[in-house]
Amino acid sequence: MTLGIGVVGAGYWGPNLVRNFRSSPDWDLVAVCDLDEAKARRVIGDRSTIEVETSLERLLARDDIDAVAIATPAQTHSPIALAALQAGKHVLVEKPLADSHPVGAQMVQVADQHDLVLMTDHTFCYTPVVQRIGELIADGVLGEILFIDSVRINLGLIQPDVNVFWDLAPHDLSILDYVLPGGLRPVSVGAQGADPLGAGNVCVGYLTMPLPGGAIAHVHVNWLSPTKIRQMVIGGSRQTLVWDDLNPQQRLSLYDRGVDLHSVSADATERARAQVSYRLGDMHAPTLPEREALAIMAGEFAAAINEKRAPRTDGRAGLRVLEVLEAADRSLAEGGALVPVESTVLTTGGAS
Ligand SMILES: NC(=O)c1ccc[n+]([C@@H]2O[C@H](COP(=O)([O-])OP(=O)(O)OC[C@H]3O[C@@H](n4cnc5c(N)ncnc54)[C@H](O)[C@@H]3O)[C@@H](O)[C@H]2O)c1
Repeated sequence: MTLGIGVVGAGYWGPNLVRNFRSSPDWDLVAVCDLDEAKARRVIGDRSTIEVETSLERLLARDDIDAVAIATPAQTHSPIALAALQAGKHVLVEKPLADSHPVGAQMVQVADQHDLVLMTDHTFCYTPVVQRIGELIADGVLGEILFIDSVRINLGLIQPDVNVFWDLAPHDLSILDYVLPGGLRPVSVGAQGADPLGAGNVCVGYLTMPLPGGAIAHVHVNWLSPTKIRQMVIGGSRQTLVWDDLNPQQRLSLYDRGVDLHSVSADATERARAQVSYRLGDMHAPTLPEREALAIMAGEFAAAINEKRAPRTDGRAGLRVLEVLEAADRSLAEGGALVPVESTVLTTGGAS
């Protein structure tokens, strides 16, 4: 069934949503809403039949709209999403889900109460490369996860209202949440950061997350790096993958190389004497299909509504990312100490 949608927010990111919902076979893009009418009009062009709206209230009162996609600044996500849910519309909200965890939890609860889909646009999760990484992990190709190292650095726009963790790390965290079985549930979070220029916010950040079972994940985000690096290494007991997002010819490499430890003893001294051997096997670069992530994301949103199920990146996935970001803020305030993640007590279920 084709569903009607309105996009709210036609700034930098909104036009990408407009383009993808417009060309999706699952969706009928009915209207684009922005407080600034000229921006909304520019996105759809002069000769389009898509309507322009400047009032959210009027948009939500339309009965030809089943859902809204929200691409407004993070602090406005929750009031717009709550109004849409109260009006009976399914909601897709840009990352981050909300600007704080309690507010995000309220969005999830309201969506559940109304039996509506609440989806977070964790765009990277819908890229062919992340989808493949998720499959490789789920199929056991990497074996047991031992470590994860993610680097997302470049000369970035220094944000006045959020630190570099809130700006860049949602990408890494949502990817980890997507590919790790059971989602991202670190044992604790340690965040170290610096504002060496005195810009008013942490511009260089290191996030350390011990994972259940003894593995560890590390995320480096930085607005001050003259070189751009987008790289993630996921080390497994069988194979290790390297994802270099800036290398389209070989975005993903799988290495049959690693360290094997031969010991059956539970005793620590015995284990220390265990035999170590190095596997030096082949490297393999899987081919990946070329598909736009937002097109896949739009399809998943429609499928979740039609099949009355939670989407892959539901509101709860958005909450798990917020839990880590808030733990990072607490850790920063405690000088980088490892702090526990305050996990949501929301019961599972619902479509959000
Ligand atoms: N998924 C991604 O990779 C990705 C990338 C960039 C931005 N984003 C997210 O997209 C969202 C928007 O970011 P942006 O850079 O496009 O911001 P922006 O400031 O360029 O655009 C926001 C637009 O929203 C409009 N707006 C604000 N409040 C409104 C309201 N109440 N009703 C209607 N319109 C309203 C503004 O007029 C503006 O045109 C943010 O949440 C951001 O985190 C996601």
